[in-house]
Amino acid sequence: MGFILAAAGSAVGLGNVWRFPYVTGENGGGAFLLIYLGIVFSIGVSVLIAELIIGRSTQLDPAGAFRKLAGGAWPLVGYMSILTAFVILSFYCVIAGWTVAYMAKSIAGSVLLSDLEQVGSAFDTFITDPLEPVLYTALFVGLTVFVALGGIANGIERAARLLMPALFIILLVLVARSVTLDGAVEGVAFFLQPDFTKVTWGTLLAALGQAFFSLSLGMGAMITYGSYMHRHDDIAGSALAVTVLDALVAVLAGLVILPAVFAFGATPSAGPGLTFITLPSIFAQMPFGSFFAALFFFLLAIAALTSSVALLEVVITYFMDEGEANRTKVAVGAGVATFALAVPASLSLGIMSGFTIGGNVLLDALDYMTSNITLPLGGLLVALFMGWSLKHKGEEEFVDGSALAPALVSAWRFIIRYVAPLAIALILINGLGFI
Ligand code: PHE
Repeated sequence: MGFILAAAGSAVGLGNVWRFPYVTGENGGGAFLLIYLGIVFSIGVSVLIAELIIGRSTQLDPAGAFRKLAGGAWPLVGYMSILTAFVILSFYCVIAGWTVAYMAKSIAGSVLLSDLEQVGSAFDTFITDPLEPVLYTALFVGLTVFVALGGIANGIERAARLLMPALFIILLVLVARSVTLDGAVEGVAFFLQPDFTKVTWGTLLAALGQAFFSLSLGMGAMITYGSYMHRHDDIAGSALAVTVLDALVAVLAGLVILPAVFAFGATPSAGPGLTFITLPSIFAQMPFGSFFAALFFFLLAIAALTSSVALLEVVITYFMDEGEANRTKVAVGAGVATFALAVPASLSLGIMSGFTIGGNVLLDALDYMTSNITLPLGGLLVALFMGWSLKHKGEEEFVDGSALAPALVSAWRFIIRYVAPLAIALILINGLGFI
């Protein structure tokens, strides 16, 4: 149970509440949702199982795990993982900083306006400011390092056991408020009625990237978490529980944000700001709105914290397992490096917006490079490694501790050996426009 909660804490975060609704909005709604769920419950859960197996069997960080199991060039996958974790952590802390800021602003009552245009311009003013969001980012990086230093790691985990169900309940309340807004039905239809004419390779890549991001796959986090599992812990049951919970929270968040987008006359393809421009207007139309808003952003910040700690843990575990370095030094060093990349990422929305990579400002480029390239690539390599290099050694580890029907093991083997590598490769090649 403790492991499931920790792994779910890593999975459930900004990916569900901030990223999922806007990526769904950008990709046409219902068809994207179906494709997303299809990927999550086939490739996603299978790669999650594979990562847990790699971690549990070696009890090591990603690079060390690959070295111990196979050697050759495989540890390179581990190094890519660690670099990816670091890059994600940097922009993740920027967005997480926004949630802390919005908690403060909700208490002050300065953002809860029912006029969407005003909410939108308040948001723009905030994220383009050269100082304010950077300070909140610093605060969040600091919190992440503090938790990872062990001071309150147990405390946060215990607190999360209460706070995560609270987040869940408040999401349910928000769903009820959002879908009963005037004009919300159109948004519900947008989210739940698939229109497959909108599906392109780009849609598939976005769904794949979102699945990996949300389940914390393809960058070593679940290998690292697996390395903290006990020998006979149930891998299959844990993986399934985490996957179901994570998907459920994403769907609820979609049911909060997208109906409201339509009710307020916003555009679903508005991008990364979508959650932050619609939520305040929803709260503005609720009794005790500023109390609920502050509570919600607080809970979201805690959910983000349990995810950012997981990301930092990948980096820390690597340096500790590899170099036997001192935890405090590694955590503080990684925190400083993270902040050094987070600052330009934050500024890229304002004074540094002139600097673009492939047409994206830095924050979007870092997100794109990780979510849509290195995470799927990492997942592809994990699948190949498990299916073709480890083979029955991996399977023995899988069934140890899990009560599994043989048919399920076969299905998993089939997905890991054939479906996942082929589908990911095809989607990556076409989605990135190589063909
Ligand atoms: N899965 C987390 C989220 O959805 C983000 C994350 C990615 C955390 C990778 C750890 C590792 O917010």
